[in-house]
This record gives sequence, C-alpha cells and structure tokens, in this order.
Amino acid sequence: MKAERSIFIAEILVMNVLIKNIKSLVGIREATVDRVKGSDLKSLPFINNAFLLVHNGIISAFGKMEDIQTIPWNEPINETIDAHNRMVMPCYCDSHTHLVFADTREQEFIYKIQGLSYEEIASKGGGILNSAKKLNAASEEFLVEATLQRIEQIIKHGTGAVEIKSGYGLSYDGELKMLRVIAKLKSVSPIPIKATFLGAHAFPLEYKNNRQEYIQLLVKELLPAIADEQLADYCDVFCDKGFFTPEETAVILQAAWKYELKPKIHANQLAVSGGVQAGVRNNAVSVDHLENISDEEIRCLQNSNTIPTLLPSAAFFLRMQYPPAREMIEAGLPVTLASDYNPGSSPSGRMSFVVSLACIQMKMTPEEAINAATINGAAAIELSSELGSISIGKKANLIITQPINSIANIPYSFGDDLIDRVIIS
Ligand code: NIG
Ligand code: FE
Repeated sequence: MKAERSIFIAEILVMNVLIKNIKSLVGIREATVDRVKGSDLKSLPFINNAFLLVHNGIISAFGKMEDIQTIPWNEPINETIDAHNRMVMPCYCDSHTHLVFADTREQEFIYKIQGLSYEEIASKGGGILNSAKKLNAASEEFLVEATLQRIEQIIKHGTGAVEIKSGYGLSYDGELKMLRVIAKLKSVSPIPIKATFLGAHAFPLEYKNNRQEYIQLLVKELLPAIADEQLADYCDVFCDKGFFTPEETAVILQAAWKYELKPKIHANQLAVSGGVQAGVRNNAVSVDHLENISDEEIRCLQNSNTIPTLLPSAAFFLRMQYPPAREMIEAGLPVTLASDYNPGSSPSGRMSFVVSLACIQMKMTPEEAINAATINGAAAIELSSELGSISIGKKANLIITQPINSIANIPYSFGDDLIDRVIIS
C-alpha cells in the first residue's frame, strides 16, 4: 500500500501564496451562497486584472491588482505565482462518481458498438454485475491503490472535491469492503471525499427471484453495520426500469434516514420511472441522471430542495438522449453537472469534457455549465460552505488556466482542460 507517498501532481501548498496579475478571477461569490438556480446560473462573477492570497490553504483575500497594497499583510509570502494572461477559477466539485472499481469493461464497449443495449448487456450478467464479480475478488489494498491513481488523475483535470459510491460489492462483505476503501481514501486524499452507500445498485443474480431478501440484507444488515463504522454520508438507490422500483427505493431510503444517511439517488436514466418523486418525497439531496424527465417531474423538483444532477458524459458514452437542461434552468432549478466516472457508462472523470458536453449537447452557456460544475457540484455534496466558489474563508482549491481569451475557451476546446496548474489548499 503506497498511499502515504506524495503521488499527487497538483501542488499541496502550505503557508502563504500570492497569485498576481490574474487576467480574470472567476466564480466570485459570497461564502453564504449555497447553490445557484435558474436564470442566476448565467452569471459567473469575475474581477479582471486580479490578485488572490492564500493563507494556510484558505482564500484570505482577493481583489483588483491596483488595490493589492491596501491589504493589511505582515507575514512573508512563501510563493508568488504570476498568472499573467491566465484565469483563476474554483476547482470542479464532482458530486457523482463510482471511482472504486477493480477493472475496466471495454468488452462491453465493443458490445455496445455492435448494437447491444445497456439493458441487454445487463441482462447477460454484464454491466454492474460484471464489475461486482471483479470487485468481490479484489483486495482492499489493490482497490485503494487503483482508486488513488484515479484521484490523482481527476485532480490533474481540475477536480477539487469528489463523491464516491459503493455499489459494485452487492454483497455484505463486498459493500463493506468498498466503503472501507472509500474511508481509507478519505484519510489520505488531498481533496475532500463524500461516501455514498449504493448497495441498491442492482439485484445480484442469486436474489433475482427474491428481491425482498436482498432489500432486507441492505436494510437490516448492511445499514446498521455501515452506521456502526460511520462508513457513509449518503444512501443511493438505482431507481429505474429493470432495477429498483419507487416502492423498493422508499423502503431503503427510509431505513437509511434512521441512520442519518441522506438520499442521493439515480433516477430516470433509462425511463421515466418515478425516481424523481421517490427522491423528492424522501428529501433527497439530489436526484441524478434525468435523461428521461417529464413536466410533472420538473414541477416536483421546483417544489423541493432536491438538486437535479445531470451526467452528460454517461449519455454521450451510452449514446442516449441528453437531459433537457434548458427546460430545467427555465424552471428555476439549480442544475448541477457531474462526471458519473465508472467503468460501464462513463469511464472518464474529466469535468472539462462534461462542461463541454453540457454546452454542446444541452445548450448550457459556458457560465451556466461552470456554475453547475463548481458551486452547484459543491452543494450536491453539501460542501458549498467550504468549496465551489472564490470566497473569503473557502478552501483554496483552484484551477489556474493556460493563457486563454475568455472562460468560454474551456468548453470550446473540448477534450482539453486548458489547465496550467491545479492548487489544492
Ligand atoms: O450511473 N446507472 C447506474 N449506475 C451507473 C452505471 C454503472 C455501471 O454500468 O457500472 C451509472 O451510469
Ligand atoms: Fe452513477
């Protein structure tokens, strides 16, 4: 287990850092702003020709270069970064991933090219069950090491906080193993991690004809064990056609609430399935996917505190329709973007590509997409008091871009991050 090594390419800065001559400092908000909704998403507040001061990993001051002398400051600056021609923005907050997995699944990628559907592959014992088989055979140490490498990679691509789900165990031991891996990662990762229990990701083959028994395993055995070891922050259910029904979802989420695990659920990826209503009724923090959504569900979200999280790279990879982001924005919702990094439907955690897809395929503006991937991503893992915007007192998890003309250059240059440097508090 080599987790103690300093493998992270992004700099881990302590003490005082001054970033000066910033062409544009973007994503500035009051620290009290939790999420950005509807028409407010189109504004990404900025200061041109700016500086930013980091004190022990926290944003302690920022403003116009011409005002830099007015900042009362007696301490030595340990590092000065000249960001001439470059922009500085908050890191992405990726609020939906399945980052712990034992192996890739490119064979299924080939099946898909040959025309098999997601459901057909799943019904052949492929898909999630394929990952579950491999995960149950893998050691905890191997999974920690493999996932740390993925964390290193997503940091390089600009991610500064991440949610990670279980859900490839699908057995008592396998689910606990995954959550213990995530707990270990929390203790060694330079970026904040939130853990989500997703035992209800699929029915294992041996429970196919006895769904209730599997639900009882989740509710009566796994949830108490998870609560006992404090292994999860959230509980997820794949509430969709062919997976968990809204009624089964409600049983699991209500049991999770008893252990103070809030719901964050997969809903409406494959069909309008009642997942949105099940999430909202059970006070879900977020309902994620929403490739299929009707006006009724949009209205249901309008009357709730539940965040709609869209995962366009999964729709891209599976060649499915994209969620109607514009309708949701017009309905005043706090639309959020995440990567869904997983071996089956989105084998990439590159948030700049997610932002590009949001603009190109869902007609979000660059500002809307960046807000959705930063401050709203932070809200979807309840971290917006510490991350997701340029605000005094927040963690200095920052992206310094390459020289660019405007922030729209990021989604425009799809497939490229345009990152010069990532700073993790
Ligand atoms: O979010 N939809 C369910 N879960 C994952 C897919 C997981 C897999 O195929 O392994 C998703 O897309
Ligand atoms: Fe997912």
